[in-house]
Amino acid sequence: MTKRYLVRTFGCQMNEHDSERIAGMFEADGYQRADSEADADVVVLNTCCIREGADTKLYGTLGHLKSLKDSRAASGDELEIMVAGCLAQKDRESLVERAPHVDVVLGTHNVSRAVDLLAQHRRSGVPVVEILEETVAADHEAFPSALPVVREDPWAAWVTIQVGCDNNCAFCIVPAVRGPEVSRSFGDIVSEVERAASDGVTEVTLLGQNVNSYGRDLTLSLRGGQPADRSRELHSAGADWVTGERRARPLFADLLRSVGAVPGVRRVRYTSPHPKDLRPETIAAMAEVPSVCEHLHLPLQSGSDRVLAAMHRGYTAGRYLEKLDAARRGIDDLAVSTDIIVGFPGETEEDFAETLAVAAEARFDNAYTFVYSPRPGTEAANSSDPEVPHEVAVERMARLRAVVERSSRLGNEARIGAIEEVLVEGPSKKNPERLTGRTRGNRLVHFDVDPTTQAVRRGSYVEVRITSAATTHMLGEFRELVAPPTHRVRIPVASS
Ligand code: SAH
Ligand code: SF4
Ligand code: F3S
Repeated sequence: MTKRYLVRTFGCQMNEHDSERIAGMFEADGYQRADSEADADVVVLNTCCIREGADTKLYGTLGHLKSLKDSRAASGDELEIMVAGCLAQKDRESLVERAPHVDVVLGTHNVSRAVDLLAQHRRSGVPVVEILEETVAADHEAFPSALPVVREDPWAAWVTIQVGCDNNCAFCIVPAVRGPEVSRSFGDIVSEVERAASDGVTEVTLLGQNVNSYGRDLTLSLRGGQPADRSRELHSAGADWVTGERRARPLFADLLRSVGAVPGVRRVRYTSPHPKDLRPETIAAMAEVPSVCEHLHLPLQSGSDRVLAAMHRGYTAGRYLEKLDAARRGIDDLAVSTDIIVGFPGETEEDFAETLAVAAEARFDNAYTFVYSPRPGTEAANSSDPEVPHEVAVERMARLRAVVERSSRLGNEARIGAIEEVLVEGPSKKNPERLTGRTRGNRLVHFDVDPTTQAVRRGSYVEVRITSAATTHMLGEFRELVAPPTHRVRIPVASS
């Protein structure tokens, strides 16, 4: 009997990307995807620990799975439970102590071991915990993108360009669970994008915690290494570096240009750049490469210089606004999104008023806003600055939401009458007669298509005229098909 697996994702895009690879490895091993826990033989929880809520959610889900596992066991059947991701990396053995029904715990640096560790557990009959401390730099297998994949959306590929983070934002647990920054070689990234494009992928999202510093480690090691081996250098750092000044420098702008030039790739996105490292050459590449989307996710975190310094963000609010202004001047019709934390230790009403003012001035199209959550082991969690009471943070959050929602709505309203290219994701959740997709600026659009005249498949690019706008979406009228999907459609084989 074919075994069935299910992967549940709790975290960011990086985490989602790891999930696609874990799924890919199970399928390569002959497993089939299950629709729910009820018909799965193996459940993988791919966890996050960025905020406390993420922990609570995991332990809640594990409680529910325990009852399912017990009732399966009572009927002579087995449900295997695997916990992967950042919380697994953080809690490791204590996870099995807290939840002894977990069979395998897998860290963030050894995603490729998922299926092997499950086999090891079956042989030994005891929980298996394997956590590595960091990615082995020279090993291209260390990058999850090098593994087999089952893509959530067959037209869209996440491509890891860098793992880990060398910054030390006082609130953030990522460096502790993802390790130091390691860039993947230029040649591996471009060939992965070429492979994805030949499978029909048309949208590529480059992933890293601080994409703007991508490749600095590669060029530094080439500069310090043995006399040049040209083909190795070319693979590692790309043609522009090898034929250019060969200075030790980040390669992100070169990478955008190379990935953007891969035939078949219509949209390139990336997340996230760090404001302190947003460089003019990145802005130029975004402006000049037609496939690179006019969307910048630039995390602000706070608008108060005092709080930004305590967070160790490396920029002031004024500098952030200057960078944003440079990006808007350089890139036509740029959409901008951000992340903001409310209630960082010591945040006063005056600090928060500055965040409101900067958010208003920045006119964000979208903002992910978070109430600060202390993460044990981070600098901010040990801060002697006074905690912001939860009710105060929640009230501030509501005021911040009002400011960002206003600019989102105004940004959407300004597009009424415009023609937008939309990548179709499928039927709208609320109204299945309607299609939903995203513009190049990552704005959500719902539109109707007359089913008698036009069949529009998921993954198609269409032109839509915007007719009305709200805070989180726009409505439009279908005009024409720009490009049909090119990914192969897997036709399920009926079992007899
Ligand atoms: N590397 C990315 C961010 C990764 S975490 C970057 O620098 O932009 C995603 C977001 O979660 C952060 O931008 C931050 O806004 C939020 N975040 C991180 N740690 C947090 C914490 N302890 N409490 C609340 N929000 C947090
Ligand atoms: Fe965390 Fe800062 Fe690194 Fe982003 S840049 S992952 S917020 S430490
Ligand atoms: Fe992502 Fe959460 Fe880890 S945000 S990097 S999955 S802690």
